[in-house]
Amino acid sequence: MQRVFSIYTVVVLAMSADGKIADANRSPARFGSVTDKAHLEAQVAQADAVLFGAETLRAYETTLRVTHPDLLKLRQQNHQPPQPIQIVASRSAKLNSDWRFFSQPVPRWLLTTPAAQAWDAPHFDRVLTIGTPSGIDWRAAWKEFAHSGIRRIAVLGGGSIVWNLLELDLIDELRLTICPLLLGGTIAPTPAAGIGFPEAIAPRLQLLSAEAIDHEVFLHYRLQHREV
Ligand SMILES: NC(=O)c1ccc[n+]([C@@H]2O[C@H](COP(=O)([O-])OP(=O)(O)OC[C@H]3O[C@@H](n4cnc5c(N)ncnc54)[C@H](OP(=O)(O)O)[C@@H]3O)[C@@H](O)[C@H]2O)c1
Repeated sequence: MQRVFSIYTVVVLAMSADGKIADANRSPARFGSVTDKAHLEAQVAQADAVLFGAETLRAYETTLRVTHPDLLKLRQQNHQPPQPIQIVASRSAKLNSDWRFFSQPVPRWLLTTPAAQAWDAPHFDRVLTIGTPSGIDWRAAWKEFAHSGIRRIAVLGGGSIVWNLLELDLIDELRLTICPLLLGGTIAPTPAAGIGFPEAIAPRLQLLSAEAIDHEVFLHYRLQHREV
């Protein structure tokens, strides 16, 4: 198992039975059940930080906080603050401070690039500019996170961010919930965007568990890291 700078990275996504993480309009994906929401909250509660792309924030305008008393207690026992840091990844930093996210009681970081618009700093506890105008340097970002004491990151989407991290072999685990609907089409986003991998070098997964609850299936995979 590879851990870059001691960080363990877990991707958590819900998808339709035909492998879409949202519909073709990129609407917020609200097709997971109450059980799936609890599963997501449990994953968030284990993390020191959660990370998501700006398009995910644009879709939801909000984030999932840890609210279950047992999970808050567990974080306290683990000497973690009540809420993980919420890290928004955005090349442009074109974000709207009216979104509910910016009034939620969570620590907020912006991970951005020199191409970002001037951002009103009070809305973020930290702004990290790491990379070039064309994109974030993810390895350097992971290094900075590690220096900041982050040991476990939950990546909550979307497909674009997951693709970036997959390409760099930065993901350790994947938790996918298969939800009982079909979204269809060719433009609806999938768990990993980008240009895709040729089959011969596609990342391989080891199935750790598969649990069916009501009409959903909860899959837990470990990524087999590439040889270096
Ligand atoms: N089903 C689920 O569990 C789930 C979870 C999350 C999201 N979703 C869905 O997924 C969709 C969003 O996914 P997405 O793939 O379109 O977008 P995304 O991954 O959420 O965000 C993409 C944005 O991230 C920034 N970004 C991406 N790569 C970057 C790089 N290399 N350097 C700097 N910034 C970078 C850019 O922000 P800027 O544009 O600001 O520059 C880019 O537009 C939405 O429809 C949402 O509903 C579903």
